[in-house]
Amino acid sequence: MTTTIPTLDQPLITLNEQDFLAFADSAITVIETATDERTLQELRVSLSGKKSALTALSKQMGALDADAKKQYGVYLHELRTHINQALETKAKQLATAAMNAKLASEKIDISLPARGILAGGLHPITQTTERMKQFFVQAGFSVATGPEIESDYYNFEALNISSHHPARAMHDTFYFDAHYLLRTHTSSVQIRTMENSEPPIRIICPGRVYRCDSDQTHSPMFHQMEGLMISKSSNFAELKGLIHEFLDAFFGKKMTVRFRPSFFPFTEPSAEVDILSDNGKWLEVLGCGMVHPQVLKNCGINPDEYTGFAFGMGIERFAMLYYGIDDLRLFFQNDLRFLKQFS
Ligand code: PHE
Repeated sequence: MTTTIPTLDQPLITLNEQDFLAFADSAITVIETATDERTLQELRVSLSGKKSALTALSKQMGALDADAKKQYGVYLHELRTHINQALETKAKQLATAAMNAKLASEKIDISLPARGILAGGLHPITQTTERMKQFFVQAGFSVATGPEIESDYYNFEALNISSHHPARAMHDTFYFDAHYLLRTHTSSVQIRTMENSEPPIRIICPGRVYRCDSDQTHSPMFHQMEGLMISKSSNFAELKGLIHEFLDAFFGKKMTVRFRPSFFPFTEPSAEVDILSDNGKWLEVLGCGMVHPQVLKNCGINPDEYTGFAFGMGIERFAMLYYGIDDLRLFFQNDLRFLKQFS
């Protein structure tokens, strides 16, 4: 069926209600065919706008006498009401349809599997460093850091390891040139701190160190935590007590500990510390000793007035013992299957 917008080619001067109703019917039929807001707006203009049939009809009213005008007015009002209602109903229908289409197109499929949240975690070496730091910070030590590219002086010379000293061979150093190298231990930070501050000194020096060595238990880059205490009364008994307490706290149980005489050029006397493992074997975990008087002198500290002790340990070694890991290389492969077990 084709429908057209009713026009008044033949002016509708009539007092017949049927004529008005027929007009209303054809207008409503056309309105109902509108499928979008724009078409509906065009219809609104042509049906009830200035140049519309309705306007033309109301203009004709003037030519009628009083009684006819009254009747005509009633019909015209009804006609206008019908058309306006139809326009309004259609507008609502179109708005609802548009909203439904939008909702359908933006529908979220809640049956799809979730993407999941990838939560990061701290690396086991970081966690181990934090556990170690926690103990020493509570014991009054502050954390000191220094450069990883060091001079020969801070890494060796000031620590009583002169260039011909056989101890250099133990360090498997990465050299840049005759003067600069990758630090082989964080003892260099102890020298820098002693140079720059007045005793009493109580520091720990966690950080990356480098040695030209690589196998299941050695990596060319690893982490150390060294400690230094300088005061007028520091002694070996204090060192032993502190280390034993640290080992108990770190492993969370009473440890069997052994101090074994050893040698480091920068401490005298020196000791290596072993812990008794569950399978009855002694495991070396750190080196320590009383700071050598020459080292104090090198840093401008009078050895007749002050004494001190120092200790140093590998963080990977502690992490391996704590978590029961037997290959140090796992720490550096960044395999998520390994790392996820610690977060
Ligand atoms: N600096 C020594 C090392 O890296 C460890 C150590 C520190 C030993 C302090 C004694 C005292 O092997």
